[in-house]
Amino acid sequence: MLELSRTIRFCLNGPDDGRDTPKNNTFAAWPPMRGLGRYYQLHVRCAGEADPVTGYFINIRDIDQAVRGHVLPLLNDVLAAQPDSAAIPMGSLMQRMLDRLRSPLNRSVAGLTLELTPYHRLEIRSNDMAHVIVRQQFEFSAAHRLHVDRLSDDENREVFGKCNNPSGHGHNYRLEVAVRAPIDTGGRVAPVEKLDGLVDRVVIQRLDHKHLSVDVPEFRGLNTSVENIAVVVWGMLEKAVREIGVELDEVSVWETGKTVCTYRGDTTTKVLPV
Ligand code: NI
Repeated sequence: MLELSRTIRFCLNGPDDGRDTPKNNTFAAWPPMRGLGRYYQLHVRCAGEADPVTGYFINIRDIDQAVRGHVLPLLNDVLAAQPDSAAIPMGSLMQRMLDRLRSPLNRSVAGLTLELTPYHRLEIRSNDMAHVIVRQQFEFSAAHRLHVDRLSDDENREVFGKCNNPSGHGHNYRLEVAVRAPIDTGGRVAPVEKLDGLVDRVVIQRLDHKHLSVDVPEFRGLNTSVENIAVVVWGMLEKAVREIGVELDEVSVWETGKTVCTYRGDTTTKVLPV
């Protein structure tokens, strides 16, 4: 089984939807931005077997055409019927978007992710149509020092290099929290501001502008590697997210723009005290 993902960028511009413009730059977006339009990215994940002759299991041109021909009209209709964006039931909308792609893409669609902002995404999976995965990103700034007491000073310097600096050093961390939210009978999922409030209270306020190795009890006896930060944040959130009626799906922590660690609650992972 192969998975192929395709990103389609588009703008919704209201009654003048821009579909009369030539497709000269689908990289940026088509329909293109007009005035104060709405910009989105849709990631379509298809699964199947490659044709032995062409090497394709699906032609990406067919994915583009299916999205632009079947999903964009739906979104335009929904926005025309309900100008109040907050009143649009996003759970049932994600279900309808995926349903519209099933037939044109020969039932190969495994999942859809709608990128609503650069930091907020909704995902629906074909094998779990009763839930939406809601992803939201956060930031916190913190100091830490990579150091393990059971290693000698020389060994610490050897393993951790300048990250072993005795006074510590800082990062602007980025955190992404993904939760599995049930779609209610009204087609809605828990609004993202509930997740914002919970993560702010349970994680951000406890880590932001702190020295992780000194100030945060969860890291006592634990090296503050990005791996351990992801596992500790998972532990902070796993039970807490249930109070807003969702399950934790994934935690990702970026230490820099180049380094990210993702944890999905694998029970075999053990965080050992240093
Ligand atoms: Ni560091």
